[in-house]
Amino acid sequence: MSTSLSRQIKLAAYVMAGPVSGHHGGWRYPSAQHDILNVRFYQDLGRQLEAGKFDMMFMPDIQALPRRLGDSLDSQLKHGALGALRLDPLLVLTAIAGSTSRLGLAATISTSYFSPFQVARSLATMDHLSAGRAAWNIVTSFQDAEARNYGLKEQLSRDERYARAEEFVDVTCKLWNSWHDDALKWDRAAPQFADPSRVAPIDHHGKWFDVAGPLNVSRPPQGRPVFIQAGASDRGRDFAAKWAEVIFVTHSSIESAQAFYADIKERARKFGRDPDQVNVLLGMVPVVGETDAIARDTQALLDSLCEPEAGLSTLSYQLDVDLSPFPQDEVLPDLDVAGVQGHYREVAELTRKQNLSLRDIGKRYGIGPLRDFNGSGSTVAARMQEWFDARACDGFMVQMPYLPGGVEDFVRLVVPELQTRRVFREDYAGTTLREHLGLDRPAH
Ligand SMILES: Cc1cc2nc3c(=O)[nH]c(=O)nc-3n(C[C@H](O)[C@H](O)[C@H](O)COP(=O)(O)O)c2cc1C
Repeated sequence: MSTSLSRQIKLAAYVMAGPVSGHHGGWRYPSAQHDILNVRFYQDLGRQLEAGKFDMMFMPDIQALPRRLGDSLDSQLKHGALGALRLDPLLVLTAIAGSTSRLGLAATISTSYFSPFQVARSLATMDHLSAGRAAWNIVTSFQDAEARNYGLKEQLSRDERYARAEEFVDVTCKLWNSWHDDALKWDRAAPQFADPSRVAPIDHHGKWFDVAGPLNVSRPPQGRPVFIQAGASDRGRDFAAKWAEVIFVTHSSIESAQAFYADIKERARKFGRDPDQVNVLLGMVPVVGETDAIARDTQALLDSLCEPEAGLSTLSYQLDVDLSPFPQDEVLPDLDVAGVQGHYREVAELTRKQNLSLRDIGKRYGIGPLRDFNGSGSTVAARMQEWFDARACDGFMVQMPYLPGGVEDFVRLVVPELQTRRVFREDYAGTTLREHLGLDRPAH
């Protein structure tokens, strides 16, 4: 078994192309910039993350402006909550590709509302333009509001969503393999631009898709983009264990994170995979300062800028349950949620352990329920190593409390501490995201 000397922490930055990324008070913080509609804002963030040797920037996404709390858009728009505004991740990340050379770029794309050809083509394009740095966060989506933007009355059932996702991913893999790696010849004299014997249709006919192929983009530098997933239901965990090379989780205690970690690695083994090829990244919202006291002051100010309704509004759409009819001063009863199981499990655990009212849950959810990663650079790095060594995770999805200051602080104060502890790289050893993460390049 590898030790913490050889095992290295993987770092992804969770950056929303919208008002908040980790903390619902983020956009109201005095030094937060409001440049989120400007390409240079994201390019600068990319450069800073690359200077901090991050593995990747991860961009979440949803396909609707949520109106789940009280059947109204108001709470999202008023509070600039998590779903209030989202730019298209593929476009933003492709722009960042041009201003960076090592940083991995992870786009969230739903298998429920797009087509495999379109997604395979876009991601192959991004992988080429970034010279092997593309990743795909494969989501099945979870809200009826999203379905209604794509001509449906309601979303498919969870089982149907995952069945469609299985076939979707299978088809995209066939499309990326419809060109051999050596198909492009560029032979002026022959002439032979590409060798027809190295490019073939896929002729896929399935339950959900009929796709002739081949793709009109050559095989991506990484063979295929890195696969990321965040399903937490039983079905979601199996899907992740079968396909994902990075799994994004949120937990409110180290014990539940350890249990998930052991479970997912075991599931990966059952699918015949090497568990080391599956990296579990834990979501954290670090508030960092030069000293623990400075970080505490920053945290207090940030927290004061988050209204409980902002967190409840986001929780409502993430669970796909209207939380407005429930008494705010009482504990949330057990629910059967159609939305994200991972978020429900996290909130149910918090409610049970701390006997929090729904209003308190709204506040805690809005400010990030896991409060273990605040303090000076050395405090935060020590805590990260503790979770990493305890095999609660292989790395972290760092949800920046505000932008761009959250990135600056983390890179300036935490990264050097992780490097001193020899649990994080001093520099990139390779150029592609697969190389950063120690992942195999899929054979043709
Ligand atoms: C930490 C975390 C982050 C997620 N991010 C997104 C996202 O950006 N977009 C999205 O559509 N779904 C997102 N999801 C939802 C999942 O990818 C998945 O589609 C959903 O949870 C339904 O699967 P489940 O029932 O197995 O949980 C996220 C889930 C978790 C736990």
